[in-house]
Order: sequence, then structure tokens, then C-alpha cells
Amino acid sequence: MIMKHISFLWLILVSFQLCAQSLTASSPDRNVKLSVSFEKNMPAYNISYKGKPVILPSLLGFALNEPKMELREFELLKADSSWHDETWKPVWGEYSSIRDHHQELRLQLKEIKQGILLNIVFRVFNEGAAFRFEFPQQDKLNHFVIGEEHSQFRLTGNHKTFWIPGDYDTNEFTYYTTSLSEVDASGGKNVQEIHAKTFFDKNAVQTPLMMKTAEGLYINIHEAALSNYPAMNLVINKQDFTLNSHLVPDALGNKAYLIAPAKTPWRTIIVSDKATDIIAANRMILNLNEPSKLENTSWIKPQKMVGVWWELHVGKSSWDYYREKPTVPHGANTANVKRYIDFAAAHGIDGVLVEGWNTGWEDWFGKWKEDVFDFVTPYPDYDAKELSAYAASKGVKIIMHHETSASVTNYERWMDTAYRFMKQHNMNTVKTGYVGRIIPRGEHHDGQWMIRHYERVLNKTAGYGIMVDAHEPVRPTGMHRTWPNFLACEAARGNEFNAWSSGNPPEHETILPFTRLMGGPMDYTPGIFEIKMNVYDSSKKERVHTTLTKQLALYVTMYSPLQMAADLPENYEARMDAFQFIKDVAVDWDDTKVLQAEPGDYLMLARKAKGTSSWFLGAITDEEARSFRQSLSFLEPNTKYVAKIYRDAANAHWEKNPMAYQIDTFIVDNKTTLQLQLAAGGGTAISFTPASAEEIKKIKKYRK
Ligand code: NOJ
Ligand code: CA
Repeated sequence: MIMKHISFLWLILVSFQLCAQSLTASSPDRNVKLSVSFEKNMPAYNISYKGKPVILPSLLGFALNEPKMELREFELLKADSSWHDETWKPVWGEYSSIRDHHQELRLQLKEIKQGILLNIVFRVFNEGAAFRFEFPQQDKLNHFVIGEEHSQFRLTGNHKTFWIPGDYDTNEFTYYTTSLSEVDASGGKNVQEIHAKTFFDKNAVQTPLMMKTAEGLYINIHEAALSNYPAMNLVINKQDFTLNSHLVPDALGNKAYLIAPAKTPWRTIIVSDKATDIIAANRMILNLNEPSKLENTSWIKPQKMVGVWWELHVGKSSWDYYREKPTVPHGANTANVKRYIDFAAAHGIDGVLVEGWNTGWEDWFGKWKEDVFDFVTPYPDYDAKELSAYAASKGVKIIMHHETSASVTNYERWMDTAYRFMKQHNMNTVKTGYVGRIIPRGEHHDGQWMIRHYERVLNKTAGYGIMVDAHEPVRPTGMHRTWPNFLACEAARGNEFNAWSSGNPPEHETILPFTRLMGGPMDYTPGIFEIKMNVYDSSKKERVHTTLTKQLALYVTMYSPLQMAADLPENYEARMDAFQFIKDVAVDWDDTKVLQAEPGDYLMLARKAKGTSSWFLGAITDEEARSFRQSLSFLEPNTKYVAKIYRDAANAHWEKNPMAYQIDTFIVDNKTTLQLQLAAGGGTAISFTPASAEEIKKIKKYRK
């Protein structure tokens, strides 16, 4: 009896200590603070930045479908906190090394009614905070099915928001800029040019979600390390500006099938009073991902490509060999591919993407058919053997294209055969594609089944020594740290929409780095020089919504280790002086400086090319002309550089005069301040290379 009393007292004492103990964590610089409280046994976290609230107390919990139960009320068993400081080197990227410095707060919880164990792990960085759930191994929970994750993000007001409609299948929308209360995602239903889309709630938006408060705080919400779990959309409660997580369901309406021990992805909240910090904070998302699973990464190479591609999108040639109206040629024929190989070889471009080389295109578009492509049978006019020998003789790699038609069951059956075929033909990069409604029918691009598929592709291709560029996948969450063969993906509205739809407005590229690119590189396919599509067919109204030099600046502002020079060789040959920038620009970097930025308005970045002293600068604007002063203090001290400035001509304008550009060359150093003038919808691209004695003598010094 006495023993019983003692243990009861002990329990009271322990619980008292746990409650009294402050459940807090802060960033190394103390600007970001997180704390956790319990409201009627329900755990709630809040976040502040420089003393101002960012996330008000927000509840966390789950609904399980099997076993059927709500996990909302918990007893706190244990709380631990610890500091971590480690620096690691990515295989490729925007920085040669990345510091991961954070405080972790780990709560071990027990659900009050059923006794289910759940951990919530918080991490706080200078850039923001993150949390994830862990279901530890336990007797009461083994196989289980998530009905919904109840993660809340209670915001402090009706923030300005850069958003795309919530959806289970696509992210290829243009951005809307409204307050949270004005969000109406139902407009997404009418976007005809997107083939597979699944609307679910007019108040739903996707992540990365970019917001700006009335006080000038920038807040970005996304996720990191999305593995074996569906993607998260956010549903806005317009009464109190709470964002509620909404996971993408499977064909039966379930969200995730898990076996304990299991972890969810991290939920990330990045915050700063400077817009430039937000873009640099994509490192926080990388830090939350697992280190590389691949030991040998020497075969993984950042690269540039051209391709039998834009000519298909502008309708000059066709993917389909057996086309009904043979008014245009089949693009992927041996002679035409050789032309691209020659062009790549002549200009130091690593790869040639070839689309429409294999049978199936004649039997696909718009059908929801399981067996369309086999990924190994070329059309009669495509000589795979000859072309692989020809490419090898020129030191160029052909890049494989696997359009799966979203028949993923079929692709999974063919994967090994298809990757062996690639290796036989000396190929080491594949562009995959998932256009259309998913098979297995009822699954979604962003559901758990597909998330597992994308990861299976990364794992399997890594085994074959193959790099991946995925089109129409889920938006990235920093998994390229774990799978460095995952070079890039699309997962947003790329430049191709300018070829055959209303296209991307001039502000589009100033928003993407704050949204889609937070999770990883994008295969945006920049570099379109021939801006108006009526040169291919006078009846065409489609066009690119930028100036020519803005297309150049995108190689710097739109980070990717795989960059396409997307236009036709003949369009580059007509403007070799401007093409020089695409030849020179690096695809792998030692350092990145986000110099000036405002989402939806403008962006200026400088990057130092890997292993050299050269720097590249890209500056872009939306539909407004802008001028910038920019110090070059990032350059090496006591070094003269040749600055080659590719800029909009004085009379350039994205709509009225998009192709007018001027190239100026000056000697500059780290004390120079440049004055840049960007046309409406325009951009400036600059290469900085250390100057030789002769160049210092010959080239004029920059003067404002
Ligand atoms: C859509 C992709 O984004 C595009 O790059 C590709 O050419 C087509 N699908 C055909 O697969
Ligand atoms: Ca696409």
C-alpha cells in the first residue's frame, strides 16, 4: 500500500516536472523560437520570429482508418532536446558545402484512450522550423492506415499569398496572388491545357506556399523528405486563417498504409523579414533529408542538353511516326538526331534528348490505356545502334525519354528491360514523364502509391548508373540529397506552356524560386530565342512572355544541374553571340548569393561556378521595367574580371520588342557597382571571368 502511494506520488512529481519543463527550442541565432503546449491534452506548437508570432498555437494529431481511431489527446511521457551542428558536402548543388545547425525537441507521447505511442520531433534552424511524426514500434500498433493527418498552421492574419490550386494530380498551374481569404481554387478546374487534374476543395492550395504578412514577414510552408507517404495540400479556414493539412488519397480514399516503426515527412515553416533569405533557405529542406544512399557518385554529372523537343512542341515535327496527317515530318529520325548531336558536339553541350523515338505515340493521347509504350522498340526511321555509335564518336550522350503515359503498372513491368536497353546504347540519363490519368486507375500523381513509384525509379536507376529527370511527378521535397541521381524534375508549369497555350505570364519565373524550387531543381527548359510561335505557322498566337535576355538570365535564377538549351539549333545559329552565354554558364556551383528579390516582382542571383573563379549573375523582372544598382562585392578581392553583360536593348519589351538585346563587355572588380536596366518582362545575364593582362589593357573599365 505504501509502495503504491510512493509510486503514485512519483508519477505526479514526474508529470509536474514535465509540465513545468518548458517545451521549447530555438534557432542558433535565437531569432526563431518554437514552443509546445497542451490544450486539454492536445499538443499545440507555436513559432515566433524576432519576437513576433508566425504560427499561433496549432494542433497536431491523426485520424486512423484502421484501426479506426482518433489520435488527438496525449499524455507527455518524455521530452528531450539536443543541439546539432554538422557540415556536409552535396554531390552537386548551389553550394559546395552546407551547414546543418539546429536544436531538436523530441516529445514522446501516449494517446490517452488507446495507449498508442507517437513521437513528435521539432527542429529549429536560423531559417525556420520543422516537425515530423514518428510512430515507434509498439504492441498496440503494427499495420495501420492513415485517414488524415491533422497538422495545423494557424497564421496571424490574412496574408498575401502566392498560390496554385490544391490538386491530387498536377502542379502545372500559373500562380495566383491574393490574400488568403480571396483564394478560390475552383478556377483550376477550367485550365484546359492540363490533362490530368483532380480538384477537391475550393479553399485548397499546394505547397510550397509562399506568403507575405502586412508587417513584411515572408513565410514559406512546404515539406521535406516525402517518402512512402502522400503529398500534403493545405485547406484554408477563412474564419481564422488556419491552414489544415489534407493528404492526397488513394483509390479507396485512404491516405497512407504504414507499418510501425514509421515516420512522416517533415512539415517546414521557413520565415524571414528578407525575401532573399527565403530562397537561400532551401538548404533547410535539404538538411531535413537523409544523406545520400549512394556510395559511389562519381558517375553523376550535372549537364546541359539540347533535344528533339521544342520542334515537337511548336509543331514543326511530330512525336508520332504513323501520324494521321503527315504534313510535318517525324522528328526523331536518324538524320535529324545526328544534326542535334553535331550541334551539341560543336558547342560543348553534354546531351541530346530525343522524344518520339519509340513506338506507342500513335496509340496514346487521350486514351486511358494500360499497354502503350514498351520503351525498347524504335520507330522504323530511328536507328538506335547507329545513333549511339555516332553520339559516342562525338563525345555526346543521347538522353533517353520514357513517356509512361501515366500507365505506371506498364512502366514498372518494363523498367529493368528499358534500363538495360539504355546501358546497351551507352545512355546514362532518362527523362521520365507521367502525362494523363494514372494506372492503377484511381491512384493519383501525388498519392502514396506514386510516391513509392518515383522512389523505386530512383533506386532502380541508381543501380544501373542512370540519372533521372522526371516530368509530371510530385513536387520535390529535397530528396535529391538522398538520391543524387535525381537531377531534376518538372512538377510545375514549364516553358513548354508558352509553345501551345496561353503560357506563363512575365511574373511566373519570379515566383517559381519562392515556391516550386524550394524543394529542388526544375527542368524549366529555358533558352528560347525565337519568342513568337508565328514564325513556325503564321496563324499561331502563342509566344514566350519574356525578352530574349531574360531567357538567358533564367540559367542562373532557375537552379538546375540539368539545363536544357531548349530552342532549335538554327535559332541559336542565328544568334551565336547571345548563345555564348548558354555555352559558358555553369551547371554546378560552389556558392550562391541571393542579391535582390521580391516574389512576383524581381529576382537577382549570383553564383560561383564549381571549381573555378568565374561568377554568373542573373536578374529578372516581371511585366514592369526596373533598374537595379548592384555591388559586385561578392567577387574575389584584388582581382579584375571581364564582365560580359547580356541585356535588354533600350527599346526592348517582352510584348512589343522581345528579341532586342545588347552585349557589353567591361573590366570590373569587387568594388564596382553595376547599374542594370531591365525591360518590361526582361532580364540581364552576366558572366564574370578573371581578366588576363591583355584583357585589362584592351577592355574598357566599367563606369556608372
Ligand atoms: C510533357 C512533358 O513536360 C514534355 O516535356 C514532353 O515533351 C511531353 N510531355 C511528351 O512526353
Ligand atoms: Ca509537363
